[in-house]
Amino acid sequence: MKKQVSYDSFINACRNCTNCDLAKTRTNVVIGRGANLNAPVMLVGEGPGEQEDLTGQAFVGRAGKLLDHLLTALMFNPEDYYICNIVKCRPPNNRAPSLEEAKACLPWLRCQVKYIKPKIIVCLGATALKYLVSQDARITQVRGNWVDRPGFFRIMPTYHPAALLRDPKKKEEMFLDMKKVREYLKTIS
Ligand code: URA
Repeated sequence: MKKQVSYDSFINACRNCTNCDLAKTRTNVVIGRGANLNAPVMLVGEGPGEQEDLTGQAFVGRAGKLLDHLLTALMFNPEDYYICNIVKCRPPNNRAPSLEEAKACLPWLRCQVKYIKPKIIVCLGATALKYLVSQDARITQVRGNWVDRPGFFRIMPTYHPAALLRDPKKKEEMFLDMKKVREYLKTIS
C-alpha cells in the first residue's frame, strides 16, 4: 500500500514535469505500463510514439502489439514485466530523443527503477542501450549478451520491436534474446 501511495505521487510529479521542451508538444506523459509494481523484468524502449502520446500508455501502437505478442509466445505472465521508455514525452515526428532530453528524463527512470526494483532490465534498441549501458555499444554487436550490474540487476540488450517491423529477419534473434530472459527469470522466481 505504502509503495502504491509513493508510486502515485511519482506519477503526479511526472505528469507535471517541464524539465525539457518535449513538455510543450506532448499530449500525455507516458510513464509505463504493467500489472505489477514489483515486476522482476523491466523493458525499456526509446520514447512514446503517436498512439502512446494520444493514450498515455506505453507501447500500445504496432511495435507494442508485436512486443506483447512475443512476450505471450514466450509464456511471460503479465505479472512478470513492466514496460517504460528512456523519455516519457513524445519527440516530434518520432525522432530519437536528444541527449539533452534524455538527460532531463533519466532521473525519472532512475526513480522508477527504485520503485520497481527489477532483477532484469531489457534494453529495447539503440537508444535504451546508449543511456543504460554505454554510449559506444552497438546493438547488433551486444544484443543477446548479458551485461551484469552486480547487486542490482542484469541487463539484456535486444532489438527494438519497431526494428522487427522493418526487418522481419530480426524476429528470430529477438525471440532468442527474450528466451534467455525467460530462462533466467525461471531460475530466480
Ligand atoms: N516505441 C517506443 O520506444 N516506446 C513506445 O512506448 C512506443 C514505441
